[in-house]
Amino acid sequence: MTHTLDRTSLLRFAWRAAWDQGRVDALDDLLSPTYVRRRGPAGATQNRDQFKDSIHAVRQAFPDLRTEIEEVVEDGDRLAVRWRSTGRHTGPFLGVPPTRRPVEVSGATFARFDGPAVVEEWVTFDSRQMLEALGIITTAPQAAVDPDLVRGVHRKFTTGVTVVTTDDDGMPRGLACNAFSSISLDPPMVLVCVQRGSATHPALHRASHLGISVLAADQLDVAKVFAAKGDDKFARISWTPGAFGAPLIDGSCAQLEVEIGERLEAGSHTVFTGRVVSARHDDLAPLVYGGGGFFDISHTAPLPW
Ligand SMILES: Cc1cc2nc3c(=O)[nH]c(=O)nc-3n(C[C@H](O)[C@H](O)[C@H](O)COP(=O)(O)O)c2cc1C
Repeated sequence: MTHTLDRTSLLRFAWRAAWDQGRVDALDDLLSPTYVRRRGPAGATQNRDQFKDSIHAVRQAFPDLRTEIEEVVEDGDRLAVRWRSTGRHTGPFLGVPPTRRPVEVSGATFARFDGPAVVEEWVTFDSRQMLEALGIITTAPQAAVDPDLVRGVHRKFTTGVTVVTTDDDGMPRGLACNAFSSISLDPPMVLVCVQRGSATHPALHRASHLGISVLAADQLDVAKVFAAKGDDKFARISWTPGAFGAPLIDGSCAQLEVEIGERLEAGSHTVFTGRVVSARHDDLAPLVYGGGGFFDISHTAPLPW
């Protein structure tokens, strides 16, 4: 029996026991005690025990999990494995409650051996395939809806007006933005949606932080500056850098600085999500935008509730 067969057989046996049957201690015959598993970008590592725990977690979500080893290629002390896993999602996974959907994920594992034991593995898999199977993202085309109807619906939704800003290597950049929302309070997270055609968009993509200034009722002129294009926007208004460097509009009624977390491509826009790192607000009334017009909220009648 050659060395190749020995390693491949060992790996097949340990994987079947661990992934398909939940007998994770079978991995002790394959993985060195100093084993390190690397997934995706540098930094995301697991040791042998953490890897075993993660197999248990996956098997709790997909109790009928089956992993097919589709191809094994050996080169010196390296072994490359192309694999495909299938299972029905019947337990919570990645915060997603059970969908009862069949899920299929394909990937590749590159193992480095030291003698008979794997000391290091790099794992890569198609995460979009998994997210789609779980119903977290949908890439299949949807039924078309008349864009004018959709626009009409948005005109019924009243918002404030923010100026989303960033410091682009010493150059302040920003645009008017009403696609702003709170995501969560604990941790404090928000999102903004910015069209890819905006001149501010490339700077936001490069940035680590962005600023959000909620305009006050007397700042219609500021809204107009930032709703238009121009390299001199910040020369025409008064602003101050925040604690994290994002330009914040003076006289606005509330201000946030956000450490950008994700940049999600969605249609013609990028959704920037992030964690709030500084916040302040005062008693000024906000500027209101609805039905294509701007309003001063202090002229509206509060309803009893
Ligand atoms: C009330 C209001 C809200 C807006 N909201 C957004 C928005 O949420 N996202 C966006 O990309 N553009 C939005 N815009 C349009 C941009 O502000 C506008 O396209 C601006 O010219 C972009 O500037 P820039 O190209 O210099 O970045 C809004 C405009 C107005 C008047």
